[in-house]
Amino acid sequence: MQTHEIRERFTNHFVKAGHTEVPSASLILDDPTLLFVNAGMVPFKPYFLGQQTPPFENGLATSIQKCVRTLDIEEVGITTRHNTFFQMAGNFSFGQYFKEGAIKHAWSLLTGDRADGGFGLDPERLWVTVYTDDDEAAGIWENVVGVPSERIQRMGMEDNFWSMGVPGPCGPCSEIYYDRGPEYGKEGGPIADDNRYMEIWNLVFMESIRGAGDKKGGFEILGELPNKNIDTGLGVERVACILQGVDNVYETDLLRPVIDVAAELTGTKYDAGNPADDVRFRVIADHSRTAMMIILDGVTPSNEGRGYILRRLLRRIIRSARLLGATGEVMEPLMNTIMDTMTPSFPEIAENRERILRVALAEERAFSRTLESGTHRFDEAAGALKAAGGTTISGGQAFELHDTYGFPIDLTLEMAREAGLDVDMAAFDAAMQEQRDRAKADNKAKKMGNRDDSLYREWVDTYPTEFVGYDQLTHDANVIGLVRDGEKVTEVNAGDEVEVILDVTPMYAEAGGQMADRGRILVGDTVLNVNDVQKIGKKLWVHKATVQNGGLDLGTTVTAEVDGAWRHGARQAHTATHLIHAALRQVLGPTAVQAGSLNKPGYLRFDFNYTDQLSEAQLEEIATITNQAVDADFAVNTIETSLEEAKAMGAMALFGENYGDQVRVVEIGGPFSIELCGGTHVGHSSQIGPVAVLGESSVGSGARRIEAYSGMESFRYFSKEAALASGLATELKTPSEQLPERIAQLTERLRAAEKEIENLHRRQLLGQTADLAAKAETVGEYSLVAVHLPDGVNTGDLRTMANDVRGKLNDRAAVVVLASADGGKAAFAIAATPQAVDAGIKAGELVKAFGQHVDGKGGGKPDLAQGSGANPAGIDAGLAALRQGLQG
Ligand code: ALA
Repeated sequence: MQTHEIRERFTNHFVKAGHTEVPSASLILDDPTLLFVNAGMVPFKPYFLGQQTPPFENGLATSIQKCVRTLDIEEVGITTRHNTFFQMAGNFSFGQYFKEGAIKHAWSLLTGDRADGGFGLDPERLWVTVYTDDDEAAGIWENVVGVPSERIQRMGMEDNFWSMGVPGPCGPCSEIYYDRGPEYGKEGGPIADDNRYMEIWNLVFMESIRGAGDKKGGFEILGELPNKNIDTGLGVERVACILQGVDNVYETDLLRPVIDVAAELTGTKYDAGNPADDVRFRVIADHSRTAMMIILDGVTPSNEGRGYILRRLLRRIIRSARLLGATGEVMEPLMNTIMDTMTPSFPEIAENRERILRVALAEERAFSRTLESGTHRFDEAAGALKAAGGTTISGGQAFELHDTYGFPIDLTLEMAREAGLDVDMAAFDAAMQEQRDRAKADNKAKKMGNRDDSLYREWVDTYPTEFVGYDQLTHDANVIGLVRDGEKVTEVNAGDEVEVILDVTPMYAEAGGQMADRGRILVGDTVLNVNDVQKIGKKLWVHKATVQNGGLDLGTTVTAEVDGAWRHGARQAHTATHLIHAALRQVLGPTAVQAGSLNKPGYLRFDFNYTDQLSEAQLEEIATITNQAVDADFAVNTIETSLEEAKAMGAMALFGENYGDQVRVVEIGGPFSIELCGGTHVGHSSQIGPVAVLGESSVGSGARRIEAYSGMESFRYFSKEAALASGLATELKTPSEQLPERIAQLTERLRAAEKEIENLHRRQLLGQTADLAAKAETVGEYSLVAVHLPDGVNTGDLRTMANDVRGKLNDRAAVVVLASADGGKAAFAIAATPQAVDAGIKAGELVKAFGQHVDGKGGGKPDLAQGSGANPAGIDAGLAALRQGLQG
C-alpha cells in the first residue's frame, strides 16, 4: 500500500466518523517554544488549553501534520524507525469522546478489512501499553476491544505520559505496537524490545497542564485542562514500512528512490553487506526529504535556529555522499527525486521546485568551498601533530573545524580515524557546551525570549486584550494586571519599570515585522511612557513602560494613547514594505519569497530568498515601481476573512497562520499587492511619501536584504545627498552632473602624483648607496656594511638599498645590514654576496638572530632577508652582536 493511500484511508476513516479534515499547518508556527512543529496537536494547542473554541463541527478534527524532530538526528539510519521528517496522522476530540472512543477508533482502522477501508493488520500481532496506573484504559483494551491481558503492558512517566516537552497540555497515553517477528528481536512485548515491536500509534488522553522542567517526567502537573480531550498520532512512515513489507522506514516508496539515486551517484551499492555505508544511504534519504520540506516552508541555511538545522542536514547529506564515493555535486538529482516522490502528498511542492533547488544548490556550493579549506586545515593540523609524535587532535582544533569550517564533528572523527588519529572528545564537548551556554545566555537576554508564560496564563485565559488600534489612537482602559521584576504587583510608583495589562488597547504590539507602538498611559498626574508592546499567545498585550510621574493601582481606569507621529511613520513604513515586496516579485519573479522583514517609522528592511546579487538596474527598477505605486495613490483596503478565503483571493500567506483562523488581508491597488497582514497601514499609497531604496546586501546563503527609507526620512536622505553633491560641486568648481567625471580625473592625477613621489623617493635612497658601500669595514674574513639609518625607512626600502649596496661589493665576501626605526618599529634587511654565501653566511638566519635584539622576527633567503621588531631601541645592540658574530 503506497503512502498516499495510507493517508487517504486514515482521513476517510475519521471523516466518516464525523471529524473535520484539517490540512497540515506549516512546519513553522508562531510558537516561541518550538523550532518546528513536532506533533500533530501543535496547531490545536489553543483549543486544548481552552483559549479558543475549536471551530470544528462536533468538536472533532483529523489531520496529517508535517513534523520535524531533529533531537534524534544521530539515530537516523542506525535504527530502523527514526525519521527527522515524518507525517503524523491524528484524530482529535475536544471535550467529546475520550479513552474508549479513541481506542475503538484506532483499533477498527488498524484491524479493519482492507476492502472496507482499513489497514487489515493481524490483531494477533498488535500489542498495547498503558500508563502505570491507568486501569481504565487497560480495562477498555481487554474488555471492550478484546486484547488478551498478556499483550497489554504498563509503562511509566518516561514512556506513557505525553507532553510537548515544554509547559502546556499533557496527559497519560496508550501506545499501539506491531510485532515484526522474531527476526527483529527478542520476545516479550514493547517493554522487552522496541525494535521488534514497533510503535505505530500513540493515543494521548489529554487532561492536564504541566509546568516547567527539563527532563521527561521531571515536571509538575499544574492542574486540569478545562476539558478531557483526545490527541493521537499515528506514524504514517512506520505504517508504510509495515504495509509495504520493507525492513525500515528508509525503504518505503517515498525514500527508497533517493537511496537508489544516491547509489548511482556514488558508485556504491546499497545493502551489499557494509552496514556503515547503508547508514550513510539512509541519512541521505532521510535528510534530503527533511531539508526539502523545511525549505518548502521558507527556511534558508544560516548559523542559528532553524537555518542551522537546515544547514546541518544539507551538510550531512554532502558528507555522506562523499564518504560513499561521490566526487562532484549531488544535490540536484537528490532534491529532484525527493520532490518527485513527495509531490503526490504535497502538491504545493510543484510550484516551489525551482526555489528549493536554488537554496539547496547554493548551500552545496558554499559547503564545497569550506570543505576544501577545512580539509586543508585538517591535513595541516594532522601533519603537525604526527610530526610532533602526537596522536590526538585537540578539542580546540576539532571545535575550530566545526565552528569555522562547518565540519560536523563526525566528519572530523571520520577523517581522524582515516589518518590513524584520535580526537579529544571531552575537550570538544566542553567547547561546544561553552558555546551553547553562551547562546542560552544570549537568548535569555533577548526580550521575552525565554519568558515564563505561566505568569500571564490567567490573563491569557480570562482577559484576552481587545485591540482597537486599527482605527483609534486613544482609548479608555482598565488596568487588569501589573508586573514588576517578573512578579505580579498591585501598585507601581514613579521610576518603576513595569509591565501593564489593559483590557482594551489602541497600541500595536510587535508582530509581522512591524515594531510596537510607542505611547502613554495616563490618569490624573500619572504618566507612564510605553516603550514596547509584546503579545503573548496572540491574545494578551503586554505594555512595557516606565512610570514617569505619579503612581498607578490595579483596577484604575486610565487613558491609553498611541504616539501619533510614531504611528504615522510606522504606517508609512509598513505599507511601503508591501509595495517593495510586490515590486520585487514583479522584477525578480515569484521565486523571490519573503524571508522576514522589519519596519518602524521611517525605515524598513525586507529579506527574501534569492541567491544572486541584484544588479543596479534591477534595484533601480524596484525603486521605480515602488514609487510609481505611491504616485498612483492606490487605495489600501483591509478585509477580515477566513484563511481559506484569503488564499483563494491570492493573498501571499505568512507563517504562523492556522486553519480556521480569521485572517486580515491587506490589499493595495487591487491586484498590485495582496498579503495576509495584521499590521497598520496608510489609507492611500500616496500617504507614504517617497520611498528611498538604499541598497541590497547578502544575509547568509540564499537570502538577500533590501533596505529603504519612507516618508520624511526619505526626504531627509535625498536632501542630505543633494547637499553633499552641491557642496562637492562648489568645492570642485564643477556643475554637479559633471562630478563623477571630475572626481575620476582628480583620482587619476592623484595616483600619477603618488607614483612620481615614490620614484623620487627610491632614487633618493639609492643615491645614498654609494656612500654606504664606502663605509664597508673588514670584520674577520668579511667586508661588513652595518648601518643604523635615520628613522622612517621601511623594510621594503631597506631591502632595495641592501640589495643595491651588495651589488657594489660583489667582488668579495660582503654582508650588508641596514636597519631603521620606522613608525615605532624596528625594520631591518640583510644581504650577502655570493662569496659570503659560499663561505657559510645565511642572511635568513642572521635576520633571526638580529630579530632577538629588537623583539622581532624575519626570514628570507641565504642572500637576502628582512624582518621587523617591536623594539627599535635594540637596533644598535643587534648590529654590535652581528659584528661580533662575524669576527669569528
Ligand atoms: N501528540 C502525540 C505524539 O506526538 C500523539 O506522540
